[in-house]
Amino acid sequence: MSDVLGYKGKRVIVSGCFSGMGEAAARLLVSLGAEVHGFDFKQSPVEMASFTQIDLRDPASLEAAVSGVGGKIDALFNCAGMPGGGGFPAMDTMKVNFLGTRHLTEQVIPLMDGKGAIVSIASTGGLGWSRRIPVHMQLLATQGFQAGLEWCDANMDQVGEGYAFSKEAVIVWTQFMGARLIKQGIRINCSLPSPTQTPMMATFHAVSGKDVVDAAAEPLGRYTTPEEQAGPLVLINSDLAGVVNGVVLPVDGGFMGGLATGQVDITRMMAKKQDA
Ligand SMILES: NC(=O)c1ccc[n+]([C@@H]2O[C@H](COP(=O)([O-])OP(=O)(O)OC[C@H]3O[C@@H](n4cnc5c(N)ncnc54)[C@H](O)[C@@H]3O)[C@@H](O)[C@H]2O)c1
Repeated sequence: MSDVLGYKGKRVIVSGCFSGMGEAAARLLVSLGAEVHGFDFKQSPVEMASFTQIDLRDPASLEAAVSGVGGKIDALFNCAGMPGGGGFPAMDTMKVNFLGTRHLTEQVIPLMDGKGAIVSIASTGGLGWSRRIPVHMQLLATQGFQAGLEWCDANMDQVGEGYAFSKEAVIVWTQFMGARLIKQGIRINCSLPSPTQTPMMATFHAVSGKDVVDAAAEPLGRYTTPEEQAGPLVLINSDLAGVVNGVVLPVDGGFMGGLATGQVDITRMMAKKQDA
């Protein structure tokens, strides 16, 4: 098959390659002939060009990992993430899902050298982003991991349990950076997966309740697979999507469309949560 996606020989970094969507993306990229460099907290089962242990809560580990890979990087897949609420400290969730992800991306951008693509996984949990763009713009104005952390510490009323706010931040940041990075030949996009059968699902059920999670799986009527989430990530970072930029892409079997047209009832879904 011809290399329409253009990954043969491309040097890519995948964070979150231990499990779920990141693991599936890493496997797909290896099969497409990319030189895949995997980053995760835990050793990945995927055979890649290299694996580096990182902790997205620790900026120094991200700097060391990226400089260890070095050279030209063509694409970055920000797939690592952690849930929020329950027993998860809000600030850990913020660090992994946004502050660390942003810091990792900032380390990789200079290595893209005039052409590259970045994709991050946000969530339908970040759907409320448009209600508080000015708040997110304050966070985006912070320079670096530590300054971002200090802003979050001072604004815990906004951060809340961390998950929704961190995913909103990824969405606003993606759109903001899209308009900037394209001037350097770099595209940046993010995806909004609907409920997906990965190790994280057990926590979503425990924290939000299965009914609420199931409601977000409508109208498809089932959870997606990690492979169904990895495909669009690989597509959007490929040569085939050459001017797709600053996009927030639902990968949800029609959830967002159902919501916009009143066919998925989010009020009923939230009421169920309160009853539970
Ligand atoms: N599963 C879903 O239903 C769903 C829905 C919407 C969005 N998401 C998002 O999708 C992304 C991928 O999650 P998943 O569902 O594949 O779950 P997952 O738990 O299988 O994958 C998360 C990955 O992130 C890694 N990770 C966690 N903390 C880390 C840290 N501190 N440093 C480095 N790596 C770390 C884990 O080791 C794991 O490999 C996450 O950002 C998640 O929030 C998931």
